[in-house]
Amino acid sequence: MTIETSTTQRSDALVPREHFPVLEDVTYLNTASIGLVARPVQESASAFDREIASRGTTWFDEEQETGVLERARGAAARLLNVDPELIAIPSSATEALCQLAWHLRPAAGANVVSIDLEFPSVVYPWMRVAEETGAEVRLVDVRSDPGRLSLEAVAERVDAHTSVICVSHAQFATGCVLDLAGLSALARAHDARLVIDATQSAGMVPIDLAGVHVDALVAGGYKWLGGPFGAALLYVHPELLDGFRPSLVGWRSTPDPYNLDPRTMPLADGARRVEFSTMSYTAGQALGGAIEYLLDVGIERVAAHAAALADRLVAGLDALGAELLTPRERASRGGTVAARFPGRDGEGVAMALNRAGVIVSPRFGATRFATHLFNTPADVDRALEQLDAVLGRPAGDLR
Ligand SMILES: Cc1ncc(COP(=O)(O)O)c(C=O)c1O
Repeated sequence: MTIETSTTQRSDALVPREHFPVLEDVTYLNTASIGLVARPVQESASAFDREIASRGTTWFDEEQETGVLERARGAAARLLNVDPELIAIPSSATEALCQLAWHLRPAAGANVVSIDLEFPSVVYPWMRVAEETGAEVRLVDVRSDPGRLSLEAVAERVDAHTSVICVSHAQFATGCVLDLAGLSALARAHDARLVIDATQSAGMVPIDLAGVHVDALVAGGYKWLGGPFGAALLYVHPELLDGFRPSLVGWRSTPDPYNLDPRTMPLADGARRVEFSTMSYTAGQALGGAIEYLLDVGIERVAAHAAALADRLVAGLDALGAELLTPRERASRGGTVAARFPGRDGEGVAMALNRAGVIVSPRFGATRFATHLFNTPADVDRALEQLDAVLGRPAGDLR
């Protein structure tokens, strides 16, 4: 997919704003919640869906069905700079995290380290496994002061009994990005597995898995990757893939799904073995198209664009007396900036901004702003203007 950039320069977005028609009506700063799907990506996925719905197997035959996730697999592999054999396309990030937790099954006496700020799906699979095995789930305690989250704070909870470190690359509520190389060194120094949830970073923060040892990485498709609900990505390191026995298996887990022989259960060689059922193939197609769209722009450009917009937002928030939950250094943030407003309910502020057409999310008593490749400096300025207006009203008035 080649993206026409002539309109781009005029608007200061990295892609034509016409690909995201809602931007005519609102200032969309909510990719950390649900990303917008570019119109060309939507159109090609809808055409694919329509062909299956109207022509069934006369268009979508067994061969097509067997290979239907290869487009997304290939695009995800390019995004992460790894071999496509190491990529699976599950239905969601949560499903992938569950597959990993049930395979790794930390035993009694072992611990899993995560963070008490995490999105619940990063922690729950380990808690559920721990109910069965007696392992300990240890959470880095930063909820009362999210600004304290750092690699050092994670390292304090890791010890000789840590079997897994499972954390987000970028935190969903605060946008804090942890250094992958540092996490990797920490895990390896303790002989622990490193499982990363990159749902809030992949598609925004460059990730090169050829250069850093991560045992597994998952990312939901419907935020920064610009895909729809129903398809995510999972990377499994070759060492973890060796002997990986997924807990959920089915007809698609096998080398040749249309072999359809229940007497034996061979598993596919690659990470594909965790794809077990008839998922939303349309979502898989759209995820492939969405990642290709991002790759055409270039992740380094996306990251630089977001960093510049975030700098502008941070400067404006500072001027309005906000308290940032997001780190100030560029290396520790991506497209998300969260802020509280002294004397105000930050979640109420978020709701008031939504009513004014600036679409953001309330999280942790804060307002969470998220900028992506379609946003412009003018979007940030409009958000700040509206924020100024909301904060200028009497404290109880959050209309
Ligand atoms: C870090 C993180 N992981 C996972 C998810 C949800 O993943 P899914 O809906 O694909 O299960 C979210 C959604 O906000 C998230 O922020």
